[in-house]
Amino acid sequence: MQKSVCELFAGVGGFRLGLERLNSGWETVWFSQWEPGKTKQWAHDCYVAHFGDSVDLNGDPSSTGVDISTVDKKLIPNHNLLVGGFPCQDYSVAHSLSSSKGIEGKKGVLWWQIRDVIIAKKPPFCLFENVDRLLKSPASQRGRDFGIMLSCLNDLGYIVEWRVVNAALYGAAQRRRRVFIFAYKKTTKYAKNMKKKTPEDIVGTTGFMASAFPIRPIFALNECKIGDDIIEVSDSFKFAFSNAGLMRDGNIYTTDVVEVEEKPILLKKILQKNVAEHYYISEEALPKWEYQKGAKKIPRKAANGHEYIFSEGPVAFPDPWDRPGRTMLTSESTLNRSTHVVEDPGTHRLRILTPVEAERLQGFDDKWTSSGGMPERMRYFCMGNALVVPMITRMGVEMTRIIEAE
Ligand SMILES: C[S@@+](CC[C@H](N)C(=O)[O-])C[C@H]1O[C@@H](n2cnc3c(N)ncnc32)[C@H](O)[C@@H]1O
Repeated sequence: MQKSVCELFAGVGGFRLGLERLNSGWETVWFSQWEPGKTKQWAHDCYVAHFGDSVDLNGDPSSTGVDISTVDKKLIPNHNLLVGGFPCQDYSVAHSLSSSKGIEGKKGVLWWQIRDVIIAKKPPFCLFENVDRLLKSPASQRGRDFGIMLSCLNDLGYIVEWRVVNAALYGAAQRRRRVFIFAYKKTTKYAKNMKKKTPEDIVGTTGFMASAFPIRPIFALNECKIGDDIIEVSDSFKFAFSNAGLMRDGNIYTTDVVEVEEKPILLKKILQKNVAEHYYISEEALPKWEYQKGAKKIPRKAANGHEYIFSEGPVAFPDPWDRPGRTMLTSESTLNRSTHVVEDPGTHRLRILTPVEAERLQGFDDKWTSSGGMPERMRYFCMGNALVVPMITRMGVEMTRIIEAE
């Protein structure tokens, strides 16, 4: 089986870089990246600067970035691995007689685009990334959205494994927690081999996630059943998904696992020396930063008129050198509570991270986003959107082994 990949919601290419670093023959045959509502497509252009463009089966390039919802999915080149990081949105569905199988997801919800690609191209393997909140969303019907995803994948003939991964526990520089979702078709050799194994075996030791991200022995799995009727799942399914699990033939097995921790990269290791003055926090701006980072109690009024006190505790200020970084958001460069502030290792003055340090937090190559004159603000934005590349490389080792055995 060829190591061919289709990368959806490609951003600046975290999945592709992670797989290509293995030098084991992974070839991305098509990608899609389009930032809604923007004329200048910085992430797309950065992607193309590194990897070149790709063409569909009509020979048309995706040269200016294209909204995946406008793509005729049949024109996407065939591939054996579909990858993509996409947002946690409301995946609920309504009855609709006009659409296929009589269901209709909300407009603009990207899961339905992924499902359409799967229906059109039937990739034997899929690997997705999402925020860990997906497992618990929405608050009013916990687990519904992930349940809908599992139900769809079950209906399309896939077995699914998932795992919430804190990258810093597996040797990275950032305490970023994301859920990775691995789906494989029941017709693959891999599925046939895994069929002989118990859910405990798969989740605890021999499965895709346990192989890529080793864990301590597991004891018991919580179980539940999910049906193929997506509307029923959307209307009433609720379940407390834990941070690791398996869905096979509509049976769900899940448990919270404990990582076998590896030494992380500490913040001080990724800091640059002699950085430009504009990264430093001026005397005048310091009180604003202190306010953002400090504890506060603010009277607020809810939409229904209810008055309450919003309170939050302090966050470390500056960020300690002897820990990995916190989760980087798209707002990383702005005066914001979640923005990292560090003591510069040379001058000992306080400053924000540089774009290169942001790239290092995500495990990209230095200056990955510097091509084509991307403004600094966008470089942080693209990194906040991206993933921790070495996590993909780890899973890529496992993926290589699986595809080579097919
Ligand atoms: C979470 S980010 C993924 C980043 C990527 N994994 C990386 O390493 O940079 C999701 C990406 O999907 C893109 N996107 C959002 N809506 C899209 C659409 N309708 N069509 C194509 N891409 C879209 C966004 O611009 C964003 O770059």
